[in-house]
Order: sequence, then C-alpha cells, then structure tokens
Amino acid sequence: MPRPYIPTRIPKLSPLLPFRQFEVNSTRKPLISDKTKMAANESNQSFKLENLFNVKDKVALITGGGSGIGLMAAQALAVNGAKVYITGRTAEKLDRVASLYGKNISGQIIPLPADVTNKDSIRKLVSEISTREGHLSILMNNAGISSHKEETTPEDASKLQETLFDDSSATFDEWDTVFRTNVSQIFFMTTAFLPLLQRGSEIEHGWSSTVLNTTSISGIVKVSQQHFAYNASKAAAIHLTKMLAHEVTSSKLRVRVNNIAPGVFPSEMTAGESDEGQKSFIPAERYREKVPAARPGRDEDMGGAVLFAVCNQYLNGQSVVVDGGYVLAAGSV
Ligand SMILES: NC(=O)c1ccc[n+]([C@@H]2O[C@H](COP(=O)([O-])OP(=O)(O)OC[C@H]3O[C@@H](n4cnc5c(N)ncnc54)[C@H](OP(=O)(O)O)[C@@H]3O)[C@@H](O)[C@H]2O)c1
Repeated sequence: MPRPYIPTRIPKLSPLLPFRQFEVNSTRKPLISDKTKMAANESNQSFKLENLFNVKDKVALITGGGSGIGLMAAQALAVNGAKVYITGRTAEKLDRVASLYGKNISGQIIPLPADVTNKDSIRKLVSEISTREGHLSILMNNAGISSHKEETTPEDASKLQETLFDDSSATFDEWDTVFRTNVSQIFFMTTAFLPLLQRGSEIEHGWSSTVLNTTSISGIVKVSQQHFAYNASKAAAIHLTKMLAHEVTSSKLRVRVNNIAPGVFPSEMTAGESDEGQKSFIPAERYREKVPAARPGRDEDMGGAVLFAVCNQYLNGQSVVVDGGYVLAAGSV
C-alpha cells in the first residue's frame, strides 16, 4: 500500500527572534588572511591576456597559410610570438606572405610548400618539422577548395535534373576532389602528425597540443548554398573532428582536436582573387541583408577565434562558429 502523502510542516519564523544574534562581532580576528590575499592576487595574474592567450614560442603548422583564413591565423599566431610554418601548393604565395608579414614581429612565418592531399608529401612535411623542431604545438588543417556553383531554384524536376545531374561540371570526380581536400586530408594530416603533437604536450607543462580544423557554417546550415559537394564535405569535416577528438583522447594522448566553422570571410575562395599583399576583399553591402552582423568577417574576428581555440586548454571536440550570426539567419539542420 502506498503511504499517504503528509505535507512537511514548515516551522514559522518567530517575529521575536533577537536581532543581537545577527550582529557582527567586532573583536574577531580579520577574516581574510595574508595568504588568502596573496592567493587572490596570483589568481588575478592568471587572467592576464598574456597568460590566457599565450602562444609565445609555440610551433605551428598551418595548411593553406598563403591566403584568406590561413593567412589571418598565421598572423594572429606569429605576431604573438609563435613560430608558424605555412604550407600550400604555390611557393610564390607563401614566400610573399613570409616576406610581408613575417618581419618586425615577435614570432616567425616560414614557408614550406606542399600538397596536403598526397601521402608522400605529408610524410615529407612530417620529416621536415621533425628535423627542424622535434615537436609541434599547433596543427591547423585549413586548406580547402569549393565546388562549382549549381542552380537550385527551378521548381521543375526536369530542370533540376538538368542543373544538378546533366551539367558537365557535376561529376563524381569533382566530389572526389572536394572530399579529398576538405575531409580525407584532415584525417591523414592529423594522424601523420600525432607523434609530433604528443611530443609537444610532453615537453611543455600545462599545454596540450592542438589540432584546429577549418570547417564551415556550410556544414551546419540546411541550405545547399548552391554547392552540395562543398557543404557535404564540411559537414563531414565537422563530424571527423569529433571522431578524431574522441579516438585521440581514448588513446590517452594529450592532443585536443577542435574545428572553427567560419561564416563569410574575404579570401581567394570567396572573392576570387587576392591583392599584392595576399589579402582579399568582399564589399560589405553583399552581406548587409544576409548576415545579422551586416558584413563579412574581419581578419581580427578570425584571429581572436583562432587564439581562443588554440589556447583554451579545456576545449576539445568542439566547433567554434564565427559567423556574425549567419547560421541564425540561414537556419541549421
Ligand atoms: N572564406 C570563407 O568565407 C570561408 C568560410 C568557411 C570556411 N572556409 C574554409 O576556410 C579554409 C581556407 O579557405 P579560404 O576561404 O581562406 O580560401 P583560400 O584563400 O582559397 O585559401 C585556401 C588555401 O588552401 C590552399 N590549398 C588548397 N588545396 C591545397 C592542397 N591540396 N595542398 C595544400 N594547400 C592547399 C590554397 O593554396 P594553393 O592553391 O596555393 O595550394 C589556399 O591558400 C577552407 O577550408 C575553406 O573551406 C572559408
């Protein structure tokens, strides 16, 4: 038989409770000891920017570091003291970046040309960093390519078939290439560099080396943005980040794996070109209505996000979405 519910009696507070009971005892010893005060001061110091976002002398490798987001990340790290290797297929772009942005800063920018969609080329990169540094603190898998633009508006099955299937640019090869660069490359780069990353954590107390993949809000939004292959590849890259983070931590390695999902930032991919400083430009008007921030992302928006994701030792397996509210407006799956 269930017991009947009997409400607990709440004792009434006596209105005659003597006030003296709550008075401060002025003869008591000071409540805060010097030790506690010192500890409070030390605690404050740990919140200084140079402690929260310290990348001084860290060794970083950024793929696709010769333009766009990779260049923004390279500057954010190198200006704050990191030794940043940048890679990409075009040596000239990398050299130009190193000579323009690698001067008069506390860190360094060092070009190291490579194609990261090829295992031999990845092996050479590993061997190069191994010989020069013996460890790696930050790996930013940022290189990426887009797929061709496809019309998705026709309200007619045959017309949709024409643009999405019959079009000569719509090929299996294109999907393979996009996935090879945007997804498989992240897997092979990360796994190839694990020993150097683990070494990076071992040699520096309080630091866990980190992999930061550049994915995209394109892998989060429900719209195809007129490039199915690209958006599907970015969704895969976000999931790959989580799987890698899980497996790496399950293997008891002290390597964090996260991704940054940018909204729209000026780059060779989004603007179609870059200027003599390897920088690109997108007019703000183009995104005034589309993005709640009413503009594309700025270099500093990306720089701040990269420093946060790289330095925060408690961030693992996560997506840092930096999009001015793009996903809010476009809607996610
Ligand atoms: N800009 C945006 O709005 C935006 C938004 C979301 C996500 N993203 C992502 O951000 C990343 C960077 O793109 P971005 O926008 O900054 O465009 P970007 O200026 O075109 O940069 C991409 C870089 O990747 C390099 N790259 C491409 N394939 C490579 C390969 N096989 N091996 C080595 N390097 C390779 C390119 O250099 P080479 O051609 O010389 O090799 C280029 O420097 C990409 O993953 C992109 O999907 C961009």
